Amino acid sequence: MFPLRRNRRLRTNEAIRSLVRENIITPNDFLVPLFVVEGKGVKEEIPSMPNYFRFSLDLLENEVKTLWSLGLKSVLLFVKVPDNLKDNAGIEALNPNGLMQRAIKTVKNVCPDMLVMTDVALDPYSVYGHDGIVENGKIINDETAEFLAKMSLSHAHAGADFVAPSDMMDGRIITIREALEDEGFTDTGIMSYSAKYASAFYGPFRDALDSAPVDLDNVPKDKKTYQMDFANRYEALRETEMDIDEGADIVMVKPGIAYLDIVRDVKNEFDVPVAVYQVSGEYAMIKAAAEKGWLNHDQVMMESTLAFKRAGADIIASYFAKDIVKLINS
Ligand code: PBG
Repeated sequence: MFPLRRNRRLRTNEAIRSLVRENIITPNDFLVPLFVVEGKGVKEEIPSMPNYFRFSLDLLENEVKTLWSLGLKSVLLFVKVPDNLKDNAGIEALNPNGLMQRAIKTVKNVCPDMLVMTDVALDPYSVYGHDGIVENGKIINDETAEFLAKMSLSHAHAGADFVAPSDMMDGRIITIREALEDEGFTDTGIMSYSAKYASAFYGPFRDALDSAPVDLDNVPKDKKTYQMDFANRYEALRETEMDIDEGADIVMVKPGIAYLDIVRDVKNEFDVPVAVYQVSGEYAMIKAAAEKGWLNHDQVMMESTLAFKRAGADIIASYFAKDIVKLINS
């Protein structure tokens, strides 16, 4: 058909490009992960995540107000648990006055309309750094699922809008859903980490929470017995289908940039909202390359993040959320 059809006509200038653009990023797309620590006046930078911080509750208040003023309306809370409160059973995770429970109340207090999602998994509370309870060198499934249901209830009691189980135990979604229903938390949602791969991209996050699996009692030093093998594609669909059947409101693919094929598969196959997690290692790689002057930080950040929209994600959990919103508002 050339020269009747010249595709470059639609790329002539920014006006026409923006007119025909298929995907955009707005503040509505983001879920902002927040790391919380004990103490007062603490805002500590995570060494492997430049310009990303752990906040004590007093400073978390300011951060949440800033996010809200930028149009960021959803947060995902993670806590760094002091070593002396870690055990194998995660007892501290159920403490009604624990750090997570206080963090939920703090956010709701300063910003009642902020959507609060909470991480539900044992690793920050575990002496082993595992997402579940360990017995005879194994991460035991059903007891862990029961425990995660209790943990979810504790978060719901504290005011969480959504619980986000990130553990990959089988059957935890139905166990959590039934527990929430039984206690009357019919409006508390579940965002399931449905297709979560055993990934080396989580390294900086484990630094942030001091939650990496440790060498103790012959327990596996990786999470491959519960997180997915990164060689697998169809398994992601099976995992996601089961979570939806069990009552997940939102499903998630994690990590992000190396798993865009999975995001697209899940989006094509199911009709629930699909989230993607642009994980700590993805953030760290862009920061590090930009620090060296090897990549343009803002351009690579935008290109990588927009790729999630193009792949079909409805929700993006990202450490870049604030930077991106500032950039698009500027
Ligand atoms: C643990 C959890 C992890 C992340 C979120 N929840 C790490 C892991 O599974 O070891 C990773 C997030 C990131 O790397 O940004 N339940």
